[in-house]
Amino acid sequence: MEKIRTNKPASLKTFNISDTDSGISYESTEDETEVNTPTYSPSLMDPIENVMKPENLLEKFVEAGGRRYLNDNTVKCFLPADQEEVKRAHDQNYVEKTIWGGNYSAPVSENLSLGASVLDVGCGAGAWITDMALDYPVSVFVGIDIIPLFPENHPSNSVFLKCNILNGLPFPDNTFDFVRQGYVVISIDWQAWKEKVVKELIRITKPGGYIEIMDVYRDPTNSGIICQKIDSYLMENFRKAGINPASGTDVIKTFNEFKDKVIVAPIEERTYYFGKKAGRIGEATLKYTLEAYRGMKIIFAHIMGITEEEFEQMLIDYEKECDEVMSHRSRYRAIIQKR
Ligand SMILES: C[S@@+](CC[C@H](N)C(=O)[O-])C[C@H]1O[C@@H](n2cnc3c(N)ncnc32)[C@H](O)[C@@H]1O
Repeated sequence: MEKIRTNKPASLKTFNISDTDSGISYESTEDETEVNTPTYSPSLMDPIENVMKPENLLEKFVEAGGRRYLNDNTVKCFLPADQEEVKRAHDQNYVEKTIWGGNYSAPVSENLSLGASVLDVGCGAGAWITDMALDYPVSVFVGIDIIPLFPENHPSNSVFLKCNILNGLPFPDNTFDFVRQGYVVISIDWQAWKEKVVKELIRITKPGGYIEIMDVYRDPTNSGIICQKIDSYLMENFRKAGINPASGTDVIKTFNEFKDKVIVAPIEERTYYFGKKAGRIGEATLKYTLEAYRGMKIIFAHIMGITEEEFEQMLIDYEKECDEVMSHRSRYRAIIQKR
């Protein structure tokens, strides 16, 4: 018998203490439960599922902790789906454009200036599409996402469609000159991405056209204790949810399995620095990251077994920590040309 100390947020239901691979122990302020090991393993979706009531079971979105989330446990994007998140996503896109020196790395600028067809798969709040559509007014931009959080005001050369990539993309073969995807690998089941999505991306790209995948490359380096703690919980839970949280080399390997159809360029990598020491860009990167973590506060509190207030304090300390140790993390862009 092992004594497990629990401090589950009050809003959460009682879980089955039956799952195997938690490795997480809870500090207690309230109850102490004696159970047989193995211990209860929290899931990222628990807090969202826990606010479900019979009367909102059929609703697409639910409110939890003052934020709005998609009510669909098959979608592995745990960020909120509300106007605060739209603003954060636009800020992030602006900062990342600065870090990379542009919205894309594939050699498509001439094509875009002459008039190309472009698809953003899992476009989220449409920040990339909106910015690109303004930069290239004679090109046509399509954004698709399962969560319809699309901007109301967008350039007339852009359009948004709600669709689930896992059911296939609703376009004929060889439709787009440029197909891009940003932070979707980290929001989707890795097996499904590998087995379904990659084939669809190749299918809808025109021969000679480009695919660009942007996502998380490596875990944070040179990070302080709080950063490491937050990140290790998140990464462990992403893996449990079937997500590949650092997919750079795996994405390259997957496309290389279709060598008869595509040419894969060496991966491009950028380091993102966090905090004041890295100047205004470091401050801006830290700001949108903290806002993303705050957006997932109910989820973090749940998987870490702490209260939302304790998690908020952790973020305040994390910000201070970033002023002392300039932690950094790495993102990649993989560029693939269809033969
Ligand atoms: C982390 S967000 C990135 C959004 C945007 N690309 C960006 O960089 O800001 C991941 C996006 O993938 C979308 N997504 C996840 N699963 C999806 C699916 N099966 N079909 C379509 N979109 C999906 C989510 O709704 C979310 O908007």
